[in-house]
Amino acid sequence: MTHRILFLCALLSAGTVSAQPPTSSLIPLPVRVVPAEGAFTFDAASTIALDQRELTDEGEFLRDGIRSLLGFAPMLLPAPKGRTVRLSILQRDSIPAEGYTLAITPDRIDIIGADDAGVFHGITSLLNMMHQGDNASPGIACRTITDLPRFAWRGMHLDVCRHFFPVAFVKRYIDLLARYKMNRFHWHLTDDQGWRIEIKKYPKLTQVGAWRNGSQYGPYNQHTFDSTRYGGFYTQEQIRDVVAYAQARHITVVPEIEMPGHALAALAAYPELGCTGGPYAVERGWGVFDDVFCPKEETFTLLQNVLAEVMELFPGEYIHIGGDECPKVRWKACPHCQSVMEREGLKDEHELQSYFIKRIERFVNEHGRKIIGWDEILEGGLAPNAAVMSWRGTEGGIAAAQSGHYAVMSPGSHCYFDHYQGDPAFEPLAIGGFTTVQKVYGYEPVPAELTPAEAKYILGAQGNLWTEYILTPEHVEYMALPRMAALAERVWSPKEVRDEGAFVRRLELEFENLGAMGIHFSKSLYNVEFSTKGSKKRGQVNTELSVAPGLGEIRYTTDGSEPTDTSARFFSTIEQRGSATIKAALFGGNKKLGNTTALTLTFDKATGRALQVEPGPDERYDDGGIFTLVNGVSAGAKRVNHEWLGWCTSQVTVTVDLGSEEGLAHAGIGGLEERSSWIHPPESVTIATSSDGQTFTDAATVRPDPKASGRMEFGTDLSGRSARYVRFTVRTLPAIPDDQPGAGNLPWLFLDEVHVR
Ligand code: ACM
Ligand code: ZN
Repeated sequence: MTHRILFLCALLSAGTVSAQPPTSSLIPLPVRVVPAEGAFTFDAASTIALDQRELTDEGEFLRDGIRSLLGFAPMLLPAPKGRTVRLSILQRDSIPAEGYTLAITPDRIDIIGADDAGVFHGITSLLNMMHQGDNASPGIACRTITDLPRFAWRGMHLDVCRHFFPVAFVKRYIDLLARYKMNRFHWHLTDDQGWRIEIKKYPKLTQVGAWRNGSQYGPYNQHTFDSTRYGGFYTQEQIRDVVAYAQARHITVVPEIEMPGHALAALAAYPELGCTGGPYAVERGWGVFDDVFCPKEETFTLLQNVLAEVMELFPGEYIHIGGDECPKVRWKACPHCQSVMEREGLKDEHELQSYFIKRIERFVNEHGRKIIGWDEILEGGLAPNAAVMSWRGTEGGIAAAQSGHYAVMSPGSHCYFDHYQGDPAFEPLAIGGFTTVQKVYGYEPVPAELTPAEAKYILGAQGNLWTEYILTPEHVEYMALPRMAALAERVWSPKEVRDEGAFVRRLELEFENLGAMGIHFSKSLYNVEFSTKGSKKRGQVNTELSVAPGLGEIRYTTDGSEPTDTSARFFSTIEQRGSATIKAALFGGNKKLGNTTALTLTFDKATGRALQVEPGPDERYDDGGIFTLVNGVSAGAKRVNHEWLGWCTSQVTVTVDLGSEEGLAHAGIGGLEERSSWIHPPESVTIATSSDGQTFTDAATVRPDPKASGRMEFGTDLSGRSARYVRFTVRTLPAIPDDQPGAGNLPWLFLDEVHVR
């Protein structure tokens, strides 16, 4: 624990005994808060004093904020007058970039920033504190805050291609970023399903590329489509307006122009830039598509001219060039692509992708900017000055940092806010995944594998909002909040600030603020979560119920009835030795706070028994440990909770010890198909039995039904056999087939539950 944090703890505990403890919902938590006696009160004669003229934008932002909270607008003056908020920039070593101090005394408020961004962050802290509690009483408890960010890149992304969002909402989204001191807005502007940025030199990119003849809807594997023409784009004037709006909030807009994959909208407009020449259509469905940019000279000309206009519009250091999910099938069959590979001495299509990105990088660098791309840009060799956005896990970020390249961490496990954030029974349809606000709050952006010197290359982290299943602004807000607030604290506040209970109490105050502002957010935090564990007593399942600390009392039933405020209160482990449905809800006094969630345990001969799993699951998909396979709970059809364990390996063996020799009827294990996420069913599962745990006799080898999707069972009849041990040898495909997302990589294997009867 650092000196700074010891100091912080001392200050915070001092706060609880002060005469007027400030109820602070500030998110992200400031580095240091020193409470003091008294309060500052705005009056109609209050003014805002600007020490530097260049703080006019910040002064106006504060004035407008005060007007919307208190109903009057203080004048901006060059010197303090009356009850003043004084804004100033003071460059000194003690406040690093974006840092500030905010001193509230009974007759004056001073905000001193290391730079104008620091002043701005001080203003958002002040406005957010004024927002809490009683808006009718403008008194603000005195204190001094000293604050600075942990990371330079504190990002949020928005996909406007799968669904389009108007400028007014993009600004509202930027306001949310500013509220939580996020400072990068990654605007995903081009994709297969739509080209959303006007390019003067190539009008067809939006005339053709911004519109599609329908959209996919419903669960992915149902493959249902409507035929309603859908689309939209931003004019360059609108883009300039958004960039300026963000700049006034000290947020840099990072535009993403996707290449060489996710290019169908552009190819629909200019089919000559594909390998086959088309025709192509702007895509209606979700996923990864084979038709990508062909590395022809005409393609580079168009992309460079596009990027030249993009760099005119977006003044930030980084231009995002995509780079993810580029299938190589067209390139393999294309004479032009093959001739480029021969000419350039490239050994495979990954190197061709690398050649593509390096050429684009050279162009962007020549214009004084840098590229950032998704972690696939590492494949075939990273461009010399590129930064990497690590999304498929943390490996990409680790590899980048270890080779001296900057990285932004955005792993799907913690930073994909299109995933479910609570029990899908109560959530709108989502793409899949399961990422609760607690999980985001627990995220540490710097991978443990890095040395301190390498860790300096981790610029920060970013939350991503892909919008295949998100059609409205309200839904964007709901998916972003409160997870964005949790991530904001991770990227701003000191590493050591990790008090989930304290965070959740601030979040509860923040929910009131958001509600008052008419902003949508999820309260899935109030739903009880279940976790199961094994017991020394074999054949038993121990269940724990949890919510974040301090939210209320958990009450539950095990007879299937609805829990009420008089049901059993959960204090410790629920022990079950037979099938049951546990229902649980959170109560504050007699008020039910969330939804009732349920866990059904279905016992068979394997449930609660000892097992061996070789190798163990990948740490990213191992929430409940290997006991998950015998915990009496089968996962649903989708990968949306902790019931799935994942592996990226060629073979897994699962051996269950039934405890004693048993007469058997059936054995099976559950697997998953979710090809869009690179999860393929096992290639085969061999089921064998043994009486001594040494010598196994094969019973059957089962293969998947090629048409089956979602969860599927790999089982066999065992009538007439008796055994104590049952073994499943699960083999994966050697590589994802060519026509599938992730082609060429080892597929993921997901298993949920063993059944033995
Ligand atoms: C991504 O999610 N395809 C970067
Ligand atoms: Zn080609």
